[in-house]
Amino acid sequence: MKLAKRVKALTPSSTLAITAKANALKAEGHDVIGLGAGEPDFNTPGHILESAQNAMNEGYTRYTPAGGLQKLKESIIQKLQQNQELSYVPGEVIVTTGAKHALYTLFQVLLDEGDEVVVPTPYWVSYPEQVKLAGGTPVHVEGKEENGFKLTPEQLQDVISDKTKILILNSPSNPTGAIYSSEELKAIGDVCLKHDIMIVSDEIYEKLTYFGERHVSIAQLSTELKEKTIIINGVSKSHAMTGWRIGYAVGNRDVIQAMTNLASHSTSNPTSIAQHAAIAAYDGTQEPVEEMKKAFEDRLNKVYEQLVKIPGFKCVKPKGAFYLFPNVTEAIELTGFNTVDEWVEAVLEYEKVALVPGSGFGAPDNVRLSYATSLPVLEEALERIKNFMEIHQK
Ligand SMILES: Cc1ncc(COP(=O)(O)O)c(C=O)c1O
Repeated sequence: MKLAKRVKALTPSSTLAITAKANALKAEGHDVIGLGAGEPDFNTPGHILESAQNAMNEGYTRYTPAGGLQKLKESIIQKLQQNQELSYVPGEVIVTTGAKHALYTLFQVLLDEGDEVVVPTPYWVSYPEQVKLAGGTPVHVEGKEENGFKLTPEQLQDVISDKTKILILNSPSNPTGAIYSSEELKAIGDVCLKHDIMIVSDEIYEKLTYFGERHVSIAQLSTELKEKTIIINGVSKSHAMTGWRIGYAVGNRDVIQAMTNLASHSTSNPTSIAQHAAIAAYDGTQEPVEEMKKAFEDRLNKVYEQLVKIPGFKCVKPKGAFYLFPNVTEAIELTGFNTVDEWVEAVLEYEKVALVPGSGFGAPDNVRLSYATSLPVLEEALERIKNFMEIHQK
């Protein structure tokens, strides 16, 4: 079968690849600990489940408008106003089938062949692939570990060409947990305004910030920046609703209209019942969100302390999301492996712990561990990694 060029160039998701290997080992009866999960280990809160059940019983089981229910758009608008003092109207909002599809649709409507998109490393695995699928060219800039993995305005300035169209920002970040401050965002925003670059601000981990850190959207910083920014967000990580597939994009009306037209020919609409559930997520109590955040922060503190004691592990302490992204260059050297991929494979083979190699995030010196799993399981996983290091040190 001859496949299209555009899919032949796709790199499979490294997160899914390691999960598949871990599952195969599990199926053979091995006791595998998976730390690859990109989703909260909590159940969707009860009041949200109830609203979905009511929606079904009340017959909300038909097509909705392509861009989402008016009521849900209003809930999103209210949330943005309350949390970030950002004002939007329904024509500036589209509800999508998860944040991932919001990003996919956005790149499809913005990019022409050869347009450049600045994607700071370490990046979420899907950005470069989605940009390429839309005919764009990802341009990577290294978010240096010594700068908390964050892009600087000088670095951005250096890679701008006459083809640069978009900068992607992801704060809090997957995989690093880094959070940009207002000052940092303002300085980066100034460069974007000077060169007429649009900003795609992926804020899916907005609710998961620790140690008193606060999430700030670049769109909050000035009217000019708001006009240049498309915010991407959704309920997946904030409300433990990854399977419901509800995300959104807000920003420039023409862009949102184009996305809505494209959605009308691709998804038709996000699932009607899930949209009703998302209304309950945004309008109802936010207590479960706060509880999840507390649990994640507690785990982060405990796991971080143990992680940095493992020989060869160095780790910038994350401030948000639910991942640790240690540098394991020394651990790889100590155990005589050549690459992070080989090292991760060996940890899975010998200790049955599934980590995600940083290579898929554009950071081949690091591995990603998700702490979206219970504390005893995390402690056992770290014990096994420590054991691996002890046994395999040359
Ligand atoms: C940075 C980032 N953006 C977007 C998404 C997609 O989220 P959704 O489940 O809403 O499609 C993820 C999910 O892993 C993510 O980590």
